[in-house]
Amino acid sequence: MAEGGALFVGRGCTACHTFGGQHTAAALPGAPDLAFARERLTADMAVAWILDPKSVAPTATMPTMGLTEAEALAVRDYLWLTEPGGATPADPLPLPPPLDRPVTWAEVQSEVFGKICAHCHMNPALNEGRAGPGNDGGFGWAATGIELETREGVMAVADQIPAALLRRRDEARRDVLRPGERPLHVVRPDLPGMPLGLPPIDDEDTALVLAWIAQGMPE
Ligand code: HEC
Ligand code: HEC
Repeated sequence: MAEGGALFVGRGCTACHTFGGQHTAAALPGAPDLAFARERLTADMAVAWILDPKSVAPTATMPTMGLTEAEALAVRDYLWLTEPGGATPADPLPLPPPLDRPVTWAEVQSEVFGKICAHCHMNPALNEGRAGPGNDGGFGWAATGIELETREGVMAVADQIPAALLRRRDEARRDVLRPGERPLHVVRPDLPGMPLGLPPIDDEDTALVLAWIAQGMPE
């Protein structure tokens, strides 16, 4: 671990990254505080990232630092096993309160489910047999059977929807984490929120969906 710590400084990581209460002079905007990397990435993913950031995220701006695999492992172990100190948790980001007026299926359908969710959670009967990756699986996902194109389909999973929307908000926050800011939840790329990779549903649309569910999901 001492070797990993020496490499972390010696190979220039501290020019951009803080690590909890250590190396705080760095804090390049956009370079995350690596105290939280273990909550954001799997251990293997961190090694792949340190070796070649673009192999994990093609849009990465972090330069390839030219470490050998043994060096990358040593730095990863340092980041994973050292108590970094510093940083306090960010405030929770709650869901907005439901809208205070009647909401119909037609409205949530046109504003949220039909506009955003149905593209991946299709009803095969309405799409010549196609169900989409959110329903039928694909791109590495197992099938869920979740169809969000019809009212019946949404009603079948209504109890899961608020949590899915909440997770995406925290995830988006994780992705734009500023140095020193701790992600609220332990959010891992293998447990994504909805809508998968797209921006979270904004407060207005979220309040609309929550109101419709609270009102018993009327037609
Ligand atoms: C020139 C600035 C710079 C240097 C030097 C740098 N990084 Fe980064 N690093 C970034 C930025 C910016 C990101 C955020 C993603 C992106 O845009 O690449 C990042 C992301 C990361 C991540 C992912 C963290 C997370 O929580 O998602 C890890 C791990 C990481 N860097 C490790 C290192 C290590 C180890 C070194 C030294 C060998 C290093 N970085 C050197 C700028 C840098
Ligand atoms: C880009 C495609 C895509 C979009 C858009 C999308 N989903 Fe998904 N959804 C998936 C995939 C793939 C899975 C299975 C992977 C998983 O479990 O996270 C899934 C799983 C789910 C699950 C079960 C797992 C969980 O996270 O709770 C729910 C609920 C869900 N989606 C709701 C929604 C809602 C609501 C929307 C619209 C706001 C939406 N999805 C939009 C692809 C998508």
